Amino acid sequence: MKKNFLIKQYLSDKKMKIRHNYLSEQFKNSKKIFKLINDTVKFNDFTLGRYVDLFEKEFCKYQKVKYALGVGSGTDAIFLSLKALGIKEGDEVITPTYSFYATAGAIATTGAKPVFIDVKNDLNIDEEKIEKKITNKTKAIVPVHWSGRICNMKKILKISKKYNLHVVEDACHAILAHDDKKKLAGNFGITGCFSMHPLKNLNVWGDGGIITTNNKKLYKKLNLMRNHGLINRDNCKLYGYNSRLDTIQAAVGLEMIKNIHYITNSRIKNAMYLNNNLRTIKQIELIKERNKFKSVYHLYQFYCEKRDKLHNFLRKNKIDSKIHYPKPLHLHNAAKKFNYHKGQFYNAEKLSKKVISIPVHEFITKKQLDFIISKIKYFYKQK
Ligand SMILES: Cc1ncc(COP(=O)(O)O)c(C=O)c1O
Repeated sequence: MKKNFLIKQYLSDKKMKIRHNYLSEQFKNSKKIFKLINDTVKFNDFTLGRYVDLFEKEFCKYQKVKYALGVGSGTDAIFLSLKALGIKEGDEVITPTYSFYATAGAIATTGAKPVFIDVKNDLNIDEEKIEKKITNKTKAIVPVHWSGRICNMKKILKISKKYNLHVVEDACHAILAHDDKKKLAGNFGITGCFSMHPLKNLNVWGDGGIITTNNKKLYKKLNLMRNHGLINRDNCKLYGYNSRLDTIQAAVGLEMIKNIHYITNSRIKNAMYLNNNLRTIKQIELIKERNKFKSVYHLYQFYCEKRDKLHNFLRKNKIDSKIHYPKPLHLHNAAKKFNYHKGQFYNAEKLSKKVISIPVHEFITKKQLDFIISKIKYFYKQK
């Protein structure tokens, strides 16, 4: 096993001309961020401190929530939420089988079993299949707003109320995404969990996460849990974790959040342009949007025939095509002990063989979008 496989991946991605990774462009001029970091040295508050407080306040405004807490990562946001809700060994937590590994990982590391559910054609959990999987061990549902497309929260919340289950939103892709009533991600469940990994729509210079909640009691508990359970330097109320949002990352976040509306709108605009130009290709199936919902296109994905060939063809043409992800969660080694098997989740298995992602971020130009479209059309031999 390679100790740090990411270096190889970064080098390979760097050869692409139209890239998923836009960080060099984004941070070309980082004077303001360096100034904030420099001030951290002056203030000397290297853990938590004023930037974390300020960033949390800003996040609350943008996401229209009462409370936000900066933590180490999106994964920690989910894990800490579940731990704070008392999820433990022997419990079951319902989640989609199509997500990033962290969703299931955060559940499994509490000791609970991730109970996987198939996804619909929008790659979100199939809410119609949840009820059948509820047992007396089920304690929570972790829906994932995949690629920033809000799940059917109306139905999910109805089920959660009926069976008295907690809902922890994996909103790692979903900053500024909302439903048809303009309700923003992170406001549906007891907590919402956001990631600020460098390639997320709102990003920092390393790892970072945010937990949102409108529940004061839980907010207070999570505030203790992310910082060793400390009320103050000399009083420990409960044993917790060290999962504080890094102060330097909070400084980066404070600067970056100012652009989040522009970033989001650019992604949506690029996605619409791609949709409009790809919809006539019969080998391609676009992912449908629902009226009045706002999806924020953390990823731009579609389904296609000859997916692997198209993927290789685009990469040969220096377009950074990616597969998010070639295998659903239940088919990974990590899930083996839970006895899932191939064929169990038809849609997730089928879609993971057809799905492809192409770059959609705010630095992609119209010329580059046209180049991508022309290459895809050429591949399928359309004019
Ligand atoms: C759907 C989803 N959930 C959770 C996470 C975990 O976030 P982080 O990398 O900040 O731990 C990710 C990260 O990519 C994700 O895509």
